[in-house]
Amino acid sequence: MLGIGSDHGGYHLKQAIMRHLEERGVAYRDYGTYSDASCDYPDYGRAVALAVANGECDNGIIICGTGIGISITANKVPGIRAALCGDCFSAEATRSHNDANILALGARVVGEGLALKIVDTFLDTPFSNDERHIRRIRKIEG
Ligand code: RB5
Repeated sequence: MLGIGSDHGGYHLKQAIMRHLEERGVAYRDYGTYSDASCDYPDYGRAVALAVANGECDNGIIICGTGIGISITANKVPGIRAALCGDCFSAEATRSHNDANILALGARVVGEGLALKIVDTFLDTPFSNDERHIRRIRKIEG
């Protein structure tokens, strides 16, 4: 199960990503927001991060205008490695090297076509399981 959430700035991209997930047959749960009315990105970033951290979801996608505020919020939750990606190289590397469990996107930064490619790259790239990356990820948690 994939958890997805956004603020108003990411609402329309979230709708497009959910349609894309349906086409791919990826099961997801929508944690809001449910309209483009102004709202607070921490509420939605935290909801998805908590769902991933407590095992309700396996991974997540979070979106705000820049992707910055919502990723900062998600990364406050222990066990969360949220990666803000604006290109496919970063999306591949953060799965392979960081075992990122949440993808953050900036809807005012990347167009829909690129965003969907980034989503596909994130979902299709496994963690490398290399010892050095496991060691570094452990050090993130302190
Ligand atoms: C909302 O206007 C905007 O601040 C938000 O979507 C995000 O970019 C914050 O980091």
